[in-house]
Amino acid sequence: MTLIIGLTGGIGCGKSSVSQFFSELGMAVIDTDVIAHSLTQSDGSAIPAIREYFGDHFITSASMLDRNKMRELVFNDDNARTMLEKILHPLILEEVHQLLKQTDSPYAILVVPLLFETEDYQQIVDRILVVDCDEQQQITRVMARSHLSEQQVKAIIATQTPRINRLQHADDIIVNNQDMDYLRMQVLHLHHEYMLLTQNHSNSSHECN
Ligand SMILES: Nc1ncnc2c1ncn2[C@@H]1O[C@H](COP(=O)(O)OP(=O)(O)OP(=O)(O)O)[C@@H](O)[C@H]1O
Ligand SMILES: [Mg+2]
Repeated sequence: MTLIIGLTGGIGCGKSSVSQFFSELGMAVIDTDVIAHSLTQSDGSAIPAIREYFGDHFITSASMLDRNKMRELVFNDDNARTMLEKILHPLILEEVHQLLKQTDSPYAILVVPLLFETEDYQQIVDRILVVDCDEQQQITRVMARSHLSEQQVKAIIATQTPRINRLQHADDIIVNNQDMDYLRMQVLHLHHEYMLLTQNHSNSSHECN
């Protein structure tokens, strides 16, 4: 069994950047956001259920999810959000299991933004890696990237697990409060640690068999 590292963190803290660095080191990265995106692409496997429940007007003429419309809906309507999650969650989980089964990477980085909100993923991962930065950095980075207002970013942060809870449950923490070189260096350091852990992990897996 591959050692599975669950990577999480608040919006804009640096999950995608960290996973990019692990990927450059040749490690498998499985990103639940990327999977969700592909399931709702043109004729993705979530499209029929979304069409059935939410109606044709949430599907574009190219048979993909109208992301802007859906984002607006679920932001204001908890029932709609729950329903969308009910449709997507099992499909994403199934894909994650498939990808994990296929990988021969020494360890795998499983990116789950809502790791602490989702029991299923907490059971899959062997270890939790949190990428952390302070709220002002989150706001600055997300505003620069997404053209959201400060209020909008704050509203999203308020819906997420509080920073302190994430940090309390972390096995490893990357502090992303400096430049990209500092971030890359921390990833490299963890990579060496995980390679050592991988050896113990595969030994203990053999003992179980
Ligand atoms: N140390 C850093 N220095 C400068 N810019 C950074 C740094 N870390 C991240 N960024 C930038 O901040 C933005 C958010 O980073 P990233 O996409 O990695 O975060 P994320 O946690 O994946 O965000 P999301 O929750 O929205 O998926 C990106 O534009 C990224 O390039
Ligand atoms: Mg990201």
